[in-house]
Amino acid sequence: MKKNILIITLAVFCFACNSGGSSSEKTGETKSVADNPDYEKGLALTTQSDCWGCHKISEVSIGPAYKLIGQKYENTEANINLLAEKIQNGGSGVWGSVPMAAHSSLSKEDAVAMAKYIMLLKDEK
Ligand code: HEC
Repeated sequence: MKKNILIITLAVFCFACNSGGSSSEKTGETKSVADNPDYEKGLALTTQSDCWGCHKISEVSIGPAYKLIGQKYENTEANINLLAEKIQNGGSGVWGSVPMAAHSSLSKEDAVAMAKYIMLLKDEK
């Protein structure tokens, strides 16, 4: 069984080499959330911070899935500010008793960018 998996892995690997890398290009996807400038900025900021240690996109981790946060709050300026404040100050009681860590060194601008990014994830699978 292990041998079969190895052979399949090797076959896929060779196929990937032969295709010259063109398979990684996304063609025809014009309206992807990844095209939104807020997406790229928020992804970069959340990666620089510790967010992914407690959050995943579509699965509940220590914190709620970003997808569920995006579904819970309507994408309005008021809600973006609310979430940005929560990202900066932390808190608990909305999703359960586990507290969200405070990120007091983040600027309001960066926290807003992160909140905008999370709002974009509501349709993720
Ligand atoms: C130590 C674990 C931890 C880290 C690190 C963390 N979070 Fe959270 N986060 C949580 C928990 C737990 C909750 C749920 C809090 C609650 O129920 O009020 C939460 C909730 C949230 C919410 C929803 C807030 C609400 O009131 O509905 C947002 C948005 C969020 N986190 C964003 C972030 C971002 C962005 C970062 C990185 C800067 C981050 N989190 C880092 C644990 C964490």
